[in-house]
Amino acid sequence: MEIQLWRDTLVPYELAVEELLVKFKHIIKEYRQSGKYSPIEGVQGRVKSISSILDKASRKGISLERVTDKMDDLAGIRIICQFVEDIEKVVEIIRNRSDMTVKEEVDYVYNAKPSGYRSYHVNIWYEVETIRGTQKIQVEIQIRTMAMDFWATIEHSLRYKYPRELPKITEGRLAASARAIYVMDNVMSDIREEVVDAQGYFQDKAAIVRDILNNIQNLHGGDSERDTAVKNIQNEFYEIFYSGDFEKLKEFGRQLDKLAAKRRIQDV
Ligand code: GTP
Ligand code: MG
Repeated sequence: MEIQLWRDTLVPYELAVEELLVKFKHIIKEYRQSGKYSPIEGVQGRVKSISSILDKASRKGISLERVTDKMDDLAGIRIICQFVEDIEKVVEIIRNRSDMTVKEEVDYVYNAKPSGYRSYHVNIWYEVETIRGTQKIQVEIQIRTMAMDFWATIEHSLRYKYPRELPKITEGRLAASARAIYVMDNVMSDIREEVVDAQGYFQDKAAIVRDILNNIQNLHGGDSERDTAVKNIQNEFYEIFYSGDFEKLKEFGRQLDKLAAKRRIQDV
């Protein structure tokens, strides 16, 4: 048998994880920049460690030559959502992408595993370009809520501590906490609309304040008469900001936009 050059084998997987992280983070950014709620809250990725690959290969009787065919999670992406409803939206985004081909979907959200584990798994084919050419590789995408992620992380750590079997009492507690997580996700779903609204309000406010301060900064400079005028505008901004009147703040922002545009014309 040839020596297994793990570093070479894993290069395309590292590239895939890096690229996919950029792409999913960009989806979040696009949603937020256009003032929309992002169904993706956060994204993480990893290439399976060689130690875990060896462990899994021996556990599942996979020969080391077949690892890249037989192990579909050498590259792993985890997408965290706030609400259960967001999971389906993320799956839809993945299904509609031209750079990802869905190989398999497994729904552990509605069909939890006996352990209590819940997540939606989408295994995809993904192409990367390396100096050795194009390679099509498998990537496992796990999509879950923050609550599901909390549970899975804790349970995973315990599995390390007890590789053979969990003590019955621990197993019972995990099962109980899985039920609590399920209830929590459902209750959170009931207030989803309110939360999405509130987060939208927060984002809008942040964007308006950013624009106002930008405009103030740009108006500044020139003669002292103009600086006094800008100072008055700034004071007016603080007053409106602390009054908490959002409509007034928006109107102030609009007026300032007009003024800034007028000034730009004058300055040309
Ligand atoms: P693996 O050998 O684990 O890949 O099994 P599989 O190919 O049958 O896939 P499965 O969908 O069962 O699990 C894939 C991945 O989901 C695992 O590698 C874990 O990251 C995660 N997972 C599955 N079951 C559990 C579980 O009971 N607890 C935790 N914490 N994670 C799980
Ligand atoms: Mg798997």
